[in-house]
Amino acid sequence: MELVKTLAELQSLLASYKEQNKSIGFVPTMGALHEGHLSLIKYSKEKTDITVCSIFVNPTQFNDKKDFDKYPQTPEQDLKMLEAVNCDLVFMPSYEDVYGEDMQDNFTFGSLETVMEGAFRPGHFAGVAQVVSRLFRMVQPDFAFFGQKDFQQYVIIKDLVRQMQVPIQIEACPIIREKSGLAMSSRNQRLSEKEKQEAAKIYQSLAQAQELVHQKTPQELKKWVENQIEKSEGLKLEYFDIVDDKSLQSVSSWQDKGKKVGCIAVFCGNVRLIDNIVFIL
Ligand code: PAJ
Repeated sequence: MELVKTLAELQSLLASYKEQNKSIGFVPTMGALHEGHLSLIKYSKEKTDITVCSIFVNPTQFNDKKDFDKYPQTPEQDLKMLEAVNCDLVFMPSYEDVYGEDMQDNFTFGSLETVMEGAFRPGHFAGVAQVVSRLFRMVQPDFAFFGQKDFQQYVIIKDLVRQMQVPIQIEACPIIREKSGLAMSSRNQRLSEKEKQEAAKIYQSLAQAQELVHQKTPQELKKWVENQIEKSEGLKLEYFDIVDDKSLQSVSSWQDKGKKVGCIAVFCGNVRLIDNIVFIL
């Protein structure tokens, strides 16, 4: 596994891969890696010749400075985990490499970014788009792999490559969960054992909601999930919405065409967690 810390080194390695006509798969991360991240590396290894993983805790996507300061960083363990799954190249750029150049990169996403995460974390997706577009320009991958756990982020990244007019294929990968059902997240490291048990109720509510889709309208189901979370001790609901998988706007009927995704954000103590479920109808 190659560990690369400068753009110059990255570019020289990429040039040699391109010369050999190797396809490049890219997995951007903010580190504090877990099985969810590693699953993306595995998908990339299956689909492409060379897998590049980046680790960069991106300050511009944190609307809350305290959240940025508390974001877990475990670089040594991350490198061991990436080595164990045979990742080919790890790119750990400096702030200067990513943000040193002044660029026109104020992407906007219209109604895709005014709902859910975008509504509760102002500026978040502008920051995500800024860092991902710069990483895409540096790595120039053929494929990039994103987790469905951050469903809205995945939809926004698809729109980003459309706006950038670059031939990068975006792949969505399934959510990896703990045995309890809790979606894996770097932020879970900040939960106590008791909080982890409480947080498992988030997915339990989504899974139970799946069982109720034929008995309730989307509005009724939304209320039902909201109640489940509100009565769970230790959890505080930020939002739950059932949205169309392309437009991300609330659905009013199960009969509308397109997939419906139930997206949720919950505080467990002071840790903010998100999850979602694609409803089977
Ligand atoms: P991060 O939270 O580190 O996540 C990196 C990638 O791992 C994302 O595509 C995310 O959806 C995926 N992921 C996280 N938990 C997962 C799980 N339980 N199952 C499957 N995939 C999971 O998302 C970011 O970083 C940043 O916003 C980034 C795109 C790197 C830009 O800074």
